[in-house]
Amino acid sequence: MIFDEFTIKSLIRPVPGFPKEGVTFRDITPLYQSPRAMRMVADSLIQRYVESPITHIGAIDARGFLLGAVLAYELNKPLILFRKAGKLPADCLREAYSTEYGEAHIEVHRDSLSEGDQVLLLDDLIATGGTFLAAARLVTQLGAEVYEAAAIIDLPDLGGSRLIQDAGIATFTLCAFE
Ligand code: PRP
Ligand code: ADE
Repeated sequence: MIFDEFTIKSLIRPVPGFPKEGVTFRDITPLYQSPRAMRMVADSLIQRYVESPITHIGAIDARGFLLGAVLAYELNKPLILFRKAGKLPADCLREAYSTEYGEAHIEVHRDSLSEGDQVLLLDDLIATGGTFLAAARLVTQLGAEVYEAAAIIDLPDLGGSRLIQDAGIATFTLCAFE
C-alpha cells in the first residue's frame, strides 16, 4: 500500500493541555483505529527494514509495543521489551530519563541482548528524545548496537531527533508536526 502522509497526519489528533498545560498531546488512537492507515505505517517500516541487518526489534513501553509486535512478527525477529521501571520480572538494567511532561525510569532484561546484536528501536513518537536515548544506553550497556531509532511522529521543535542523531544514532520518522 502506498504511504500517504496526509492521511496519516489527519489521523493524529492534537489534544492541547494534556497531560498538563503547555503540552499539545499527539494522540495516535485514531490512527490505530484505521486498519488502512496502520497497514500504510507497518508496510513502510517493513519495506525499510526487510533487507537491513537488524537482529532484534526493541519496542518501547507502551505505545511502541503495538508497532513493535507487528514489525517483529512480519520481519521474524525477536521482540525485546523496554519497560517502565518495576514491570519486568527478571534481572534488569535501568536508566533514568526525562520527557516533555515528566521523569521516569526504563528497564530491559539483562539477558535480552548481547554483543553483535543490531537493534531497531521503535516507538510512536520522538519529543525530547529522552526515552529513545535512555533505551539506547541500555542497548549499549548490554554490548549491542542501535541500528536505528524509528517512530511514526517527530516533534522537531522539541529537539529530540537532533539530540539522538548527535549521539550517533540514525533516526527515521514517517511524519512531523512543527
Ligand atoms: C511517550 C511516547 C514516547 C515518549 C517520547 O510515552 O510514547 O515513548 O513519550 O517522549 P520523549 O521523546 O520526550 O522521551 P509516555 O512516556 O507518555 O508513555 P506511554 O507510551 O506509556 O503513554
Ligand atoms: N510524548 C512526549 N510528548 C508527547 C506529545 N506531545 N504527544 C504525545 N506523546 C508525547
